[in-house]
Amino acid sequence: MKEKYYITTAIDYSNAPPHLGHAYEKITADFIARHQRMRGKDVFFLTGVDEHGTKNEKASKEREITPKEHCDDIANKYKETWAKLGISYDYFIRTTDELHKKAVSEIFIKLQKNEDIYKKKYEGLYCSGCEAFYLEKDLKEGNICPVHNRKTEIVAEENYFFKITKYKDQVKKHILENVDFIKPESKKNEILNMIDDFQDISISRENVKWGVPIPNDDKQVMYVWIDALNNYITALGFFGGNESDLKKYWPANVQIVGKDILKFHAIIWPSILLALGLELPKTIFSHGFITLGGSKISKTTGNIISPNDLIEKYQADGLRYFMVREINYGNDGNFEAEFKEDKSFDRCQPLENRVNSDLANNLGNSLNRIVASILAKNCDGIIPERNKDSESDFPEFVELTKKKIEIQMDNFELQEASTSIWDLVNKLNKYIDVEAPWNLAKKALEDESTKPYFHGVLYTCLETLRIVSLLSYPLIPTISSKIWEQLGINEKIEDQTWDKIQWGLTISGTQTRKTDVVYPRIDSKLVDKSKKK
Ligand code: MSP
Repeated sequence: MKEKYYITTAIDYSNAPPHLGHAYEKITADFIARHQRMRGKDVFFLTGVDEHGTKNEKASKEREITPKEHCDDIANKYKETWAKLGISYDYFIRTTDELHKKAVSEIFIKLQKNEDIYKKKYEGLYCSGCEAFYLEKDLKEGNICPVHNRKTEIVAEENYFFKITKYKDQVKKHILENVDFIKPESKKNEILNMIDDFQDISISRENVKWGVPIPNDDKQVMYVWIDALNNYITALGFFGGNESDLKKYWPANVQIVGKDILKFHAIIWPSILLALGLELPKTIFSHGFITLGGSKISKTTGNIISPNDLIEKYQADGLRYFMVREINYGNDGNFEAEFKEDKSFDRCQPLENRVNSDLANNLGNSLNRIVASILAKNCDGIIPERNKDSESDFPEFVELTKKKIEIQMDNFELQEASTSIWDLVNKLNKYIDVEAPWNLAKKALEDESTKPYFHGVLYTCLETLRIVSLLSYPLIPTISSKIWEQLGINEKIEDQTWDKIQWGLTISGTQTRKTDVVYPRIDSKLVDKSKKK
C-alpha cells in the first residue's frame, strides 16, 4: 500500500479574486504535492476558499449581489486561476458547501457536549478586518490594529467561548516535544511566547449574518475562524457520513499557512483537535509574505498584483519557477514590479532576468543545441549509444542530486531544491561548452574511431536532460513535459515515478522530436513595441 501524504493550504477569503500572495502559497504547496506524488505517495492536496464572515458579506454588498452569488463568482475565479497555474489540488473546499456546514455544526455540538464551550458576556476591542478581539497590550497605541493599522472598536456581546485554556498546556508540551511541529524553527519561539497568555476565545458572533448558525441559537453565527479551521477535516468527511478519507489521510503531513495566521494554526487548531480527540498535524509550515514596495500584498492595502497578468506575460512556469527560486521558503520576498501609467502591471525585471537566464538560456538552449541542432544534423535526430568514457561524473552527480533533493523537499527547503536542480542544468551547460560536440561532430567525420566518444557525449546530454525534466516536473510541469516530448519518450511525464531518476534509462535508437522552444526568451522592449503597432 502506498504511503499517504496529506497537504493543505490556507483557504483564502472570498472577498476578492486571488492575488500574488495567495498564488505564492498555492505554487509552493503544489511543488511539494507533485514532488511527493512522484515519490510514489498517495497524496491528497487540499485547498479552497473561506466564504463566511463580514469581509465577504461586505464585498457582496459593494457589488450589490447576494453573498452566495458573490462567493460563487469568486470561487470560480480562484479555480480558473489555479487551473492556469497548474495547481494540482485533489479537492477544492468551499465553506458554504452543505457538507462542510453540517459538519461544523456537529463539531460545535460535540464540543458543547464535552463542556469545551460555554456562554459568557464579553466586552473587548474588536478589529473587523481581523474579525478578532484584541488585548490592549497587543494593539498599537492601545487601540490600533497592528495588522490593518486602523482603530479597533469596543464591542460588547454575549458569545460562546471555546476553552483553549483547558488544552494550551498540552499544545505547548507538543510543540516542545515535536521538533517538526512548527516550521521553520525560528517561528517556534514566537508561538511559545504567545501561548501562556492565550485566553479562551469567543467562537460566535451576534451581529454577523453571513455564517454557519450556532446550533439551537439562531441569534448567533459561528466565528469565521472556527468555521474555517475545521475545513481540513470536514474535507475528509469528518462528520460527513463517510469518514474513510479521514482514517486514511489524517493527520496532515503538512499544513502550509502564511505567517499572519500561524497562531490560529499552531494554538487554536491543535486545541480543537485535542478536544475532538484527533491527532495533531505532523507539521505546520509558515511561509513569509510577498511584499510590493516593502508592504504585504493585500486587498486592504490595495497593492494587488493579479497572478493572471503574470501568467499571461511569463507563463505559469515562469512565475512558478521565479517565486520558488528567488524566495527563501519561510521568509518574506519583495516582488519588484513596474507599472504602466494606467497602473496596470508592466514588468518584473528580476523575474525576467531569472527566467531568461535559467529557463530560456541554460535549460532551453542546451536542449535546443543538442536536439534541434547537433542531433538532427548528425544522427537524423536518433539518440545514439551510451559511452561510459564520455560521461564524466554525471551518473554519480545525478544520484547525489536526487538524494539531496529528497532531503530538501522533505525539509520544505524549496529554494534549495530548485537550486540543486539548476546545479545539474548548469553542470550540463559547462559540459556542453567544454566538450564542444559541434567540434566532436566534425572530428568524427574525419576520424571514425572518435565517433563512439562523440555519440556518448550526446547521450550524456540527453540523459541529463531527461533526468532534469523529471526532477523539475513538480516545479515547472509544462516546460518539463515539452522537454520530455522532444526527447521522444512516449510515456506521459505525469505518470513517471522517482525511480526513473536513474542514470542510463534513456533508450538509444529513440527518435527525438522537434517542437516549439520550451520557454521563449522574454524581451520586454520587443513586447512593448509590438503592442504599440
Ligand atoms: N481565510 C483565512 C485563512 C483560513 S485557513 C483555515 C485567511 N485568508 S486570506 O485570504 O487572508 O489569506 C490566505 C492565505 O494567503 C494565508 O495563508 C495568508 O498568509 C496568505 N497570504 C495573503 N497575503 C499574502 C502575501 N502578501 N504574501 C504571502 N502570503 C499571504 O487568512
